[in-house]
Amino acid sequence: MRQHAAIKRQKAFFNAHAEKWMDMWYNAPKAGQRDRFAREFRRLFALASIRKNDVILDVGCGSGVLVPRILRRLGPAGRLHEVDYAAKMIAVNRHLHPDKRIRFHAADVNALPLPEKSCDGIFCFSCFPHFQNKPRALRAMAAVLKKGGWLLLAHFDSPEALNHCHANSHMAVKHDRLPDEASMRALFAGAGLTITKHVNANGFYAFLAKTSPGISKAGYAHNPSKTNLTTETRRHRETSPHVFSSDQSLRAFCAGRCALRKMHATLCVEMEGDQGDGSRSVPPCLRGASPLVLKFSCF
Ligand SMILES: C[S@@+](CC[C@H](N)C(=O)[O-])C[C@H]1O[C@@H](n2cnc3c(N)ncnc32)[C@H](O)[C@@H]1O
Repeated sequence: MRQHAAIKRQKAFFNAHAEKWMDMWYNAPKAGQRDRFAREFRRLFALASIRKNDVILDVGCGSGVLVPRILRRLGPAGRLHEVDYAAKMIAVNRHLHPDKRIRFHAADVNALPLPEKSCDGIFCFSCFPHFQNKPRALRAMAAVLKKGGWLLLAHFDSPEALNHCHANSHMAVKHDRLPDEASMRALFAGAGLTITKHVNANGFYAFLAKTSPGISKAGYAHNPSKTNLTTETRRHRETSPHVFSSDQSLRAFCAGRCALRKMHATLCVEMEGDQGDGSRSVPPCLRGASPLVLKFSCF
């Protein structure tokens, strides 16, 4: 209920700022600046490999700051989906960018109006901290990504600066945060995405990720009951999600693994209905847990 009110407040905030959004953040006409992030945009698009016929999704698109840059790279048969839950943002975006290749959707990231595996690339630009259920949002994006497709999550700021900015901002976005690097990595893994590049330097922050091989429809690799721990340990050096059918099978798997490896493991359990970041450390015994998904890191 509290979360519902928070989302409503957030949406109202973005709707209220839709018309001025571009000038507030990107053009700063009062300061005599136009396109003041030209360098950062070049860095962003150097990471995104857009081909002429691609289907691109721009989630949390706002009034469409990325649109001209994406369209420039697409041919006549390319498609761009602009998605934002703030209807006013979509209305302004549509008005600014009349182009037949664009489809505009006033929709929540958690309910993307696109078929599964239909996108070649996804931009999640300057919006991730605002997503209230981050694991779900990443899974929703991963689900519409084609095999081998990419997802680029980026900000033109360091996480510290960004979080500081939000903390001192309007109450509607005051609590919105970019998780720390370890949590971000766990979130990507939880969505079945493999990080291929991470940049956090000179006010430019990005994660480039691809769909991982062998990911099921829900975006999770199912846990094979007989696993080769040696190979698996190597394979899951980063972070990998496993799905268990019951607490019992999860505990058995953990006990075996911990006893065998005698190593430290960070175990993150995503709970049913978890509305937070979805990942948190739990003791290896997992007493009282009712997990759906277990993610391992640092084996
Ligand atoms: C900080 S603005 C950035 C907009 C745009 N990417 C830009 O850089 O100008 C964040 C955007 O994310 C949108 N947003 C927040 N939560 C969302 C959600 N759950 N689903 C879809 N859009 C969302 C907001 O409406 C807002 O337009």
